[in-house]
Amino acid sequence: MTSNRRTFAIISHPDAGKTTLTEKLLLQGGAIHLAGEVKARGAARRARSDWMKIEQQRGISVTSSVMTFEKEIDGEVITFNLLDTPGHEDFSEDTYRTLTAVDSAIMVIDVAKGIESQTRKLFEVCRLRNVPIITFVNKVDREGRPLFEILDEVADALALDVSPQNAPLGMGGLFTGVLDFATDTVTRPEGGSKEFLGKREPLGDLPEELEEEIELTKIGYPEFDLEAYRNGDLTPVFFGSALKNFGVEELIEAIAKWAPPPRPQPAGEDEISPERDEVTGFIFKVQANMDPNHRDRIAFMRQVSGTFKRGMKLTPSGLGKPIAVHSPILFFAQDREIADTAFAGDIIGIPNHGTLRVGDTLSEKNDVRFTGLPNFAPEILRRVVLADPTKTKQLRKALDDLSEEGVIQVFYPELGAQHIVGVVGQLQLEVLISRMEAEYKVKANLEPSPFATARWVKGDDKALDEFEKFNRANLARDRDGDLVFMAKSPWDVNYQEEKNPDLTFSATKER
Ligand code: G4P
Repeated sequence: MTSNRRTFAIISHPDAGKTTLTEKLLLQGGAIHLAGEVKARGAARRARSDWMKIEQQRGISVTSSVMTFEKEIDGEVITFNLLDTPGHEDFSEDTYRTLTAVDSAIMVIDVAKGIESQTRKLFEVCRLRNVPIITFVNKVDREGRPLFEILDEVADALALDVSPQNAPLGMGGLFTGVLDFATDTVTRPEGGSKEFLGKREPLGDLPEELEEEIELTKIGYPEFDLEAYRNGDLTPVFFGSALKNFGVEELIEAIAKWAPPPRPQPAGEDEISPERDEVTGFIFKVQANMDPNHRDRIAFMRQVSGTFKRGMKLTPSGLGKPIAVHSPILFFAQDREIADTAFAGDIIGIPNHGTLRVGDTLSEKNDVRFTGLPNFAPEILRRVVLADPTKTKQLRKALDDLSEEGVIQVFYPELGAQHIVGVVGQLQLEVLISRMEAEYKVKANLEPSPFATARWVKGDDKALDEFEKFNRANLARDRDGDLVFMAKSPWDVNYQEEKNPDLTFSATKER
């Protein structure tokens, strides 16, 4: 049986048009009826808690959300699970983790700006995780650049084959439609309104220059090849305008037809197939305090196999005893709805009080452990100094909670009472300070720490004991009590690695 689930993320540089495209995809799926709704709801949601003010100030989206919608394509109803990712380079950890939960991605590029370094980094992560990419070159209603120039740029930046799927007609303000290479039909606007779905018609007469450019494009690039795309060697490129709803239908059809259905997931030496009868899944994100009036906590589970039914008992790997999932949430266009059933590829929100953590596996029989969800070595380390020293308990709670959520990592040095937090990007620190104040009433300052990075240390007991004896001042425990070497410089790491060949120093930790 092939699955009708397509679970994907949209990745882009801020301002490339991700929000607008999301909105149009939802509109296509009939999930929302008014343009602007994603943003409007976003604003309402942001107003709810203090830390999200950062989003407003910076005009970026820090949290990632899940949206599910359906569309009938060639007689089959396809369920799309769209995972939103923050589009800011500072918040890469969250994005990385989201990419562990999807089967494919859409990369949105602003035609005027091309590929920016952040987008390239995301692309590399997709490659590492075997997440194939469909490219959507947005805003072709605005800027006029030759097609092949843009295609060459994409191919160059990503070091892979590009396969153009369509062509915008009359870029540079004269935009009159999108030509579909496969069928030689063109989608034209109806009536000039901004929000239209367009109508397909046979290709009419085109101006000569345009015909030439399109001919060249057809000849110069490889044809689409499903296997190459799924292997991550080729990206089909769609040109369009999210704002004007051009090329969006083609994009959604491409996801339905080409994007991989739910894939097997690595679990140590094994792989768990989506066809497996028992329900399995893993937590890739935990979000606490979504509503400040209720200390609720939603764990986002990517379902890997089985048919989930409401009320079902699942055992989280971190807990060892089963929990009953009475009020699972599916995310239909950001409205919370209680789900009765869910399938491989779906994302389920599980309300809990801190029992579920990022990286946890959930399974019916407690016989599976998914792997490949790393903790990244922090690049910025800071000491946490309390403004009010009587609040140490609240501080510890806040740091534990927020590290569990993946906002920060926390390290408790073996010597001394100071707590050290580690992050991959600066923005995480601002989120930390602001959430500690808003949600835990803890005022704290961050001061420079003597450390530059951290490594998880592993080895046999004897070697570890020896190492601990000599390096106590540079050792800490993470939230799980695992040993971490706090290094003053990368040189320090190299030195210790050479000196202690029996130990491993790793920059990531499987969660
Ligand atoms: P993001 O989520 O990736 O950050 O981008 P977003 O959708 O917010 O779009 C960024 C800006 O680009 C918005 O303009 C949006 O209207 C515009 N935009 C998106 N798609 C297209 C397109 O196809 N063509 C053109 N011409 N513009 C597009 P803004 O002025 O910053 O915001 P707003 O005032 O429109 O909300």
